[in-house]
Amino acid sequence: MNQTNSLIAADNDEYWTYLSAHFPSSPAFINLENGYCGVLAHPVLNALQRYQSEINSESSYFLRTRWKEQLLLVKLALAKFCGVDSNELLITRNLTESFASYPHAYPFKIGDEIIYADIDYDSVQQIVTNIAKAKKLALIRLSIANQALSDEDLVSLYEQAITANTRIIILTHLLHRNGQILPVAKIAQMARRHQVDVFVDAAHSFAHLDYQLPDLASDFVGVNLHKWLGAPLGTGLLFIRRERLAEMSATGASDIEELGFAGTFAPAPVLAIADAICFHQSIGTSNIEHRLRHLSQYWLQQLNQLPEIRQHTPDDPQRSCAIRAISIDGISANEVVDYLMSEHQIFTVLRTIGEQDVVRITPHVFTSKAALDRLVMAIKKLVAIQRFNA
Ligand SMILES: Cc1ncc(COP(=O)(O)O)c(C=O)c1O
Repeated sequence: MNQTNSLIAADNDEYWTYLSAHFPSSPAFINLENGYCGVLAHPVLNALQRYQSEINSESSYFLRTRWKEQLLLVKLALAKFCGVDSNELLITRNLTESFASYPHAYPFKIGDEIIYADIDYDSVQQIVTNIAKAKKLALIRLSIANQALSDEDLVSLYEQAITANTRIIILTHLLHRNGQILPVAKIAQMARRHQVDVFVDAAHSFAHLDYQLPDLASDFVGVNLHKWLGAPLGTGLLFIRRERLAEMSATGASDIEELGFAGTFAPAPVLAIADAICFHQSIGTSNIEHRLRHLSQYWLQQLNQLPEIRQHTPDDPQRSCAIRAISIDGISANEVVDYLMSEHQIFTVLRTIGEQDVVRITPHVFTSKAALDRLVMAIKKLVAIQRFNA
């Protein structure tokens, strides 16, 4: 696993405060919306700026003489971090690109079926719909939103949806709407018994939860590197297991680069991926996961006592990590998000699960407990005002 040698306790606030000094932050607000993208730690930001400046002075000379070799070094670092071969990894600009590239290459037959769910990322659902139209495929859309399903229920829901024509299940590892972790490996193992492929959207789980790609038991995985790994914006990854590459190309490819998805793109953010891996590993994914869960439980336990607060993320702490979603009876999620920012300079975001609007709250490893205390105090005050006015 992606761990340093040392265990850093999740409640060792002295260490985590020391660590937070390595991240830039705005003095204007508390950022509790760390789900959209990460923040580059100072060493990663410095490296990015250095690469950009070097590449800008060398221009095409860099691209023609040094880029290929440098790209390979980054891919080798990524391969080690992911626990796969570098030939199985294609660097993309984001998960959407990883995801949009793959179904075009997949050897579908007319009438094949794709299973996906209403909780998947909206642009992913759109891509699936477009591919189905272009390739004359059938779609099965599962309704999972706002249902209190156990992991076992989820496995059997997906299993029951499989028919003789099903080729692919689209599966989101960690839901962006409420932070719920789906039992991807269990669903993928079940799907394999039915000869169904699983494509995992691991945009949010990668470098957030402590696992390596083979642990997902899936031949196709898309990842964002600009979220929890803390690599520059505009970096993502596509993994296709080596044994599946040949059927994805006209020429029987043995290296994912032969699938030919990538054109010219900005090299500096790609080079800085290696620096992000180094920085991330100096902390350790396991330590990061435990600290993030500790922080989300820290604010949750203080607000859970209020009867007006509704949780939209499973109670079991192992079924989520940094991201959680709540709503407050009698106050719209929109009002809560506006109030937190305008009255308390706390930045959160509204997400929608089915028809339900929720407030998504996402600390990062650099978030202090004092910041979370401010969140708790602000929400308690809002609830008190609401009670007074009722
Ligand atoms: C679960 C999930 N999938 C896909 C995406 C899309 O990522 P990107 O816009 O970087 O392609 C996101 C972005 O937040 C996400 O949370």
